[in-house]
Amino acid sequence: MSTQYENILVSNPSPSVTLITFNRPKALNALSTPLFLELNRALSEADTDQKIGAIVLTGSEKAFAAGADIKEMKDKEFADVYKNNFLENWGEMTRLKKPVIAAVSGYALGGGCELALMCDIILASPTAKFGQPEINLGIIPGGGGSQRLVHAIGKSRAMELVLTGRQVTAQEAEQWGMISRVTENVVDEAVKMATDIASKGQISVQAAKEVVNAAYELTLAEGLRFERRTFHGLFATKDQKEGKFFVVVQV
Ligand code: HXC
Repeated sequence: MSTQYENILVSNPSPSVTLITFNRPKALNALSTPLFLELNRALSEADTDQKIGAIVLTGSEKAFAAGADIKEMKDKEFADVYKNNFLENWGEMTRLKKPVIAAVSGYALGGGCELALMCDIILASPTAKFGQPEINLGIIPGGGGSQRLVHAIGKSRAMELVLTGRQVTAQEAEQWGMISRVTENVVDEAVKMATDIASKGQISVQAAKEVVNAAYELTLAEGLRFERRTFHGLFATKDQKEGKFFVVVQV
């Protein structure tokens, strides 16, 4: 029997894809601690399920997620958040091996925007709005926004979003290179893309994800070396022996 959740819905729109839908519509999918614990559990289950090759994360038409849960945060004190390393578990999803695609409609604000940025690919519907409004609450991004936005869109644009709290449209986010593309029927498109990715060899997909993400952490020389070594390693896999390109060459 599949795991039951209160704050998310988990389904398999195709046998090789897990679709996780945030399900707190009354709170515009605010990312409460219980929601995040469930999300991490569902992600981990999908990551270890051999039948699953890719994961899609989505919210509702109105909100991907309107941020961390403000009601949960408002009475917290420094000692509490510091001692308990508040939101530390947010990083877990960046350690998944399988690709995660965010399908964003409506608001992706604060932690919602940061969560989308933690995904490997972002697709957005024309209604999507991205922003880091924490500055209006007397705080700053705490889920990686200040760092990942700089990588994604450069310092000046990242600084503008973080300092003003301005929301950007899906079209602007696309123009800035923050997302992959804007599309109607964003969940269907994301599932289609996930199914396509899941049809490839899992080892090369995981290796590809790992080397692209390494570009965030490594110098160019280290990254090139890591890519080359990983590339060499794939010649030891069965997938490489069965790969379409090599079959064509041998014929
Ligand atoms: C808890 C939230 C919420 C949030 C909305 N709601 N955002 N609850 N946490 N982040 C709740 C509202 O309280 C309200 O509940 C219901 O959702 C509908 O919201 P409305 O404001 O009535 O809707 P609307 O007028 O359409 O405005 C939509 C909105 C606005 C522009 C998205 O809700 C908004 O500005 N929300 C806050 C966005 C934000 O500041 N996010 C950053 C959070 S800080 P009730 O019960 O009143 O009906 C953050 C830090 C991350 O994310 C750091 C670490 C990861």
